[in-house]
Amino acid sequence: MLRCYFAPMEGITVWQFRALHCRIFGGVDRYFSPFLSPNQHHVFSKKELGDVLPEHNEGVPLVPQILTRRSEDFIWCAGDLEAMGYREVNLNCGCPSGTVTAKGKGAGLLLDLTALDRFLDQVFSHVNVAVSVKTRLGLVDPEEFFAVLEVYNRYPLSELIIHPRVQAELYRGTPHREVFDACVPKARPPLCYNGDLTGAEDCRAFCQGHPAVDRVMVGRGLVGNPALAREVQGGPAATREELRAFHDGLYRSCCEAFQSEKNAMRPMKEIWFYLLSLFEADPAAERALRRCTDPVEYRAIAGQILREGKMRAKN
Ligand SMILES: Cc1cc2nc3c(=O)[nH]c(=O)nc-3n(C[C@H](O)[C@H](O)[C@H](O)COP(=O)(O)O)c2cc1C
Repeated sequence: MLRCYFAPMEGITVWQFRALHCRIFGGVDRYFSPFLSPNQHHVFSKKELGDVLPEHNEGVPLVPQILTRRSEDFIWCAGDLEAMGYREVNLNCGCPSGTVTAKGKGAGLLLDLTALDRFLDQVFSHVNVAVSVKTRLGLVDPEEFFAVLEVYNRYPLSELIIHPRVQAELYRGTPHREVFDACVPKARPPLCYNGDLTGAEDCRAFCQGHPAVDRVMVGRGLVGNPALAREVQGGPAATREELRAFHDGLYRSCCEAFQSEKNAMRPMKEIWFYLLSLFEADPAAERALRRCTDPVEYRAIAGQILREGKMRAKN
């Protein structure tokens, strides 16, 4: 059976989103938290702590993700997460943001493989929880990955999630699936594929083409179709009632988190950017949603789309 993971998406797949998604749609084997960025003071920020607190994640199979280049900070963070009850953490070797990579973090870890090797050596000598890695192929050239994989292969990663793009590509262009394919026989850890899977059919086709890979991670496709993972398992498509409950729950939680209905519209509009793909194109409604600045207007437009928007046939 193909396992489906929800990719971490900073600012979107926060604990309130994950809790609602898990309760309403389900089908996801693991959720990954947006990255925690530990500092040398070894305290979580209020936002980070809130995201991983066990009471905020009851019943949600969560793997917290850590973004750092300092093994001592990773080891501290993994230890605190272990004390909260987590059995696995994930290392971010993929964030392409220039400010992150300039500090040698995220995809920046792939620049100096000796340093990456030292980092992993320290981590695997000191942590008691399972460690997985989410990685890009490299910085500039997809072929960089073969040397990176040799480093990963030296350590007992619980799994290796590959987003087959390089840092310079951000999320543009076509993922280099041929490089992923070439890694399948070479990789020691179990592999998980991530990148541009947009529907359940897409995931199933990937699975058929890769009998040796039993897990995929989906980000934008799952925000755009929250029932995607359930559909992958043979379950039904999202209903209007479910989408309404999901939307209203998210809106309430954003209002609480941002202490204002007006500020809640920004993250909601970001979610709508993906969610609109569930409906047949309606340029007027989309424009109205994008431009609205008043919460009363927002609720009316969102309500109308959810009630009357023509839903696309499932893919
Ligand atoms: C808005 C946004 C936020 C993201 N935040 C994270 C993050 O915190 N950690 C991470 O590893 N990847 C992050 N990603 C990358 C996604 O996890 C995923 O690798 C990427 O979207 C490609 O998968 P997809 O094509 O299924 O969306 C983010 C992507 C987007 C678009």
